[in-house]
Amino acid sequence: MDPWEIVERYHRVIAPANRTTYFPLVPVKAENAKVWDVNGREYIDFLSDAAVQNVGHNNPRVVRAIKEQVEKLVHATYIYSFPLEPLLLAEKLVEIAPIDNAKVSLGLSGADANDGAIKFARAYTKKHTILSYMRSFYGSTYGAMSLTGLDFHVRAMVGELSGIHYIPYPNCYRCPFGKDPKSCKMECVEYIKEKFEGEVYAEGVAALFAEPIQGDSGMVVPPESYFRKIKKILDNYGILLVVDEVQSGMGRTGKWFAIEHFGVKPDIITIAKPLGGGLPISATIGRAEIMDSLPPLSHAFTLSGNPTAARAALAVIEEIEEKDLLRRAKKLGDYSKKRLEKMKEEHELIGDVRGLGLMLGVELVKNRETKERAFEEAKKVVWRAFELGLIVAFLQGNVLRIQPPLTIEEDVLDEGLNILERAISDVEEGKVPDDVVKNVQGW
Ligand SMILES: Cc1ncc(COP(=O)(O)O)c(C=O)c1O
Repeated sequence: MDPWEIVERYHRVIAPANRTTYFPLVPVKAENAKVWDVNGREYIDFLSDAAVQNVGHNNPRVVRAIKEQVEKLVHATYIYSFPLEPLLLAEKLVEIAPIDNAKVSLGLSGADANDGAIKFARAYTKKHTILSYMRSFYGSTYGAMSLTGLDFHVRAMVGELSGIHYIPYPNCYRCPFGKDPKSCKMECVEYIKEKFEGEVYAEGVAALFAEPIQGDSGMVVPPESYFRKIKKILDNYGILLVVDEVQSGMGRTGKWFAIEHFGVKPDIITIAKPLGGGLPISATIGRAEIMDSLPPLSHAFTLSGNPTAARAALAVIEEIEEKDLLRRAKKLGDYSKKRLEKMKEEHELIGDVRGLGLMLGVELVKNRETKERAFEEAKKVVWRAFELGLIVAFLQGNVLRIQPPLTIEEDVLDEGLNILERAISDVEEGKVPDDVVKNVQGW
């Protein structure tokens, strides 16, 4: 079957707002870190389906849990009844989350979890203003889109929530203040104080929303002391810290939640993507008094708490615990980072390698001095990798997104890294034709 024919049919009936194209992959089967397309071609998946398959595609424990559950009870809304599965999941989530005395609100996607966090934060603090980050991504519902600092064109087109202000994210490779991390005075922290002096009334701020590692802006990792310094300022004014762990959570960085690397306890955490092992489920986890601040039915979805998705999520958590996947994420992440850093020594195209655990970014640049983003080259690398049997994407147009399942076998990881290096070499050597660029949209 010609995959381009499927792409054509997609274009005919699916709204472009739902998606973007990197390559014409038509997946029909998957197992752990491998995906097979409609023609039986095998691929290594370094994308984990957009950081969803932390415990691997079709993880046997997850598949078994789903099968057992659908035989008994596919769904019972926890708005009206008390099914056991969402209860067991919530009990487990409050146990693993780095928040004392927490409660949970379940939903269906990362975006609705963030919308919930906006409501809980505003209701609890009785304040309206929210701080978010430039180049952040929180999802596509109205609330999450309004928090998002990455693609603000859509906000401009369709309107947005009021009362949201954006601050620069600490980015040591491309410092928004033009500083060098070796000599800077953490102007990124100082900026918040200035914001409170000149633009935003600090006493009116409900929360700061932050990704502990900014994922879709290209795996940007803040300095280790950043969140501790920020939290001190927030605490001064009674401002809540909400961390979006939709991409970085559930073991991806070698801890249950990436914020644990930074030594602060947030007030609210949002998770989704890998939670259900591929089924739609999200959670907003927060301090009990915050989560008690909204009245009944003010953040309820008919299908949330779905027993089948909750059972899948319990199996995901069990798999991470029993297979010691937090340690594995760190071990494989450290190994991959070393190999990518070695590649950087040999390939001028690579400007920066960064990340924690198996949440890694490889920034491609035309020139290491000017750091000019290598947009066309990134498209070519991703395209060539796909031709060679590796699924890898880019973010911000030029940062390769390396997020394989935490369960990926060592030899498959190595093979994937070999393919990636060959794709980079082929692009550097001019072996990938210019016209492939038109096939790749990405973002
Ligand atoms: C950090 C972050 N937050 C929220 C979302 C939105 O999650 P969802 O697509 O499940 O609504 C994403 C998705 O890419 C994300 O990366």
